[in-house]
Amino acid sequence: MHEDLSVLAARIKGAARLTILTGAGVSAASGVSTFRGPDGLWRRHRPEDLATSDAFGRDPHLVWEWYAWRRELIAACRPNAAHHVIAAWSQRDGCRVVTQNVDDLHLQAGTRGLVRMHGSIWELSCWGRCRAGVTPWRDDRVPMTVLPPPCPHCGRIARPAVVWFGESLRSEDLDAAVQAAACDLFLTVGTSALVYPAAGLVHAARQHGAYTAEINLEETPASAAVDIAIHGSAEQILPAIAQLL
Ligand code: APR
Repeated sequence: MHEDLSVLAARIKGAARLTILTGAGVSAASGVSTFRGPDGLWRRHRPEDLATSDAFGRDPHLVWEWYAWRRELIAACRPNAAHHVIAAWSQRDGCRVVTQNVDDLHLQAGTRGLVRMHGSIWELSCWGRCRAGVTPWRDDRVPMTVLPPPCPHCGRIARPAVVWFGESLRSEDLDAAVQAAACDLFLTVGTSALVYPAAGLVHAARQHGAYTAEINLEETPASAAVDIAIHGSAEQILPAIAQLL
C-alpha cells in the first residue's frame, strides 16, 4: 500500500492537468449514505419508485418526502478529510473536480470549479418547466414545511434539481466533465463505476493518454482498467497521499 501511495503521490506532484472524479464513497465518512454499499439507499428503496421522472409524475408527494428526509440527514453532515484534501488540490492550476454527489459537501469544503454531474439536492426547478423555473434555484430550508414545494415563478410544483435515472445531464455539466477527461492524471475516488456517463470518463481519460488511478473501498469494474487501484477508505488514503506531496 505504501509503495502505491508513493507512486500516486509522485504522479499527482508531476501532473499539470489533474482530474478527480468522486462518488458517494467520498461522503460516507461524513455520514451520507451511499447507494449500493452494505446499507446503501438502493438496498432499502427501489430507485424506480423514487428517482425517476415517472415516479415523480405518479406521486410527487412520496418522492418529496424521500428527498426532504435525505436533506435533513445531509444538513447535519460536514465535509470529511477526503473533501478537504480534494478542496486543497482543486486550488491548483489545471485541477478539475467532477462529482456525482448531490450533497454539495465538496462546495462546503471550498472546492474550486466543481462540476456537479447529477445536480444538487439543495436546488429545485419547476416541474412544469416554466421559463423562469427551468433554471434551478437554491433552497436549503430544513425541514421543508410544504411538500411538494411550489415553483416561486408559476405556482405549480417544483422538483429536486437532481438528475434522475433515464434523464440526460445538463449539457454544460456533461461538456465540462468530458473536457476534464482530457488530462494527465485521472483519479476516481469512492464510486462503484456503474453509472454512466460518469463511469465512462476513466476510459475517455485513458484514450487521452492519461495515467489513471482508483481509490475505492472495494473492487469496481474500473479496477482492472486503471494503472493503479488502491482499495481502502478515501478519508484515510487521501490525507496520507497529501502528506507525501
Ligand atoms: N472510501 C472510499 N470508497 C468508499 C467508502 C470510503 N469511505 N465508502 C464506500 N466506498 C465505496 C463503495 O465500496 C462503493 O464502491 O464507494 C462506492 C459508492 O458506490 P455507489 O453507492 O454506487 O455510489 P456512486 O458510485 O456515487 O453512485 C453513482 O448512482 O444512484 C446513482 O445518481 C446516483 O450519483 C449516484 C450514482
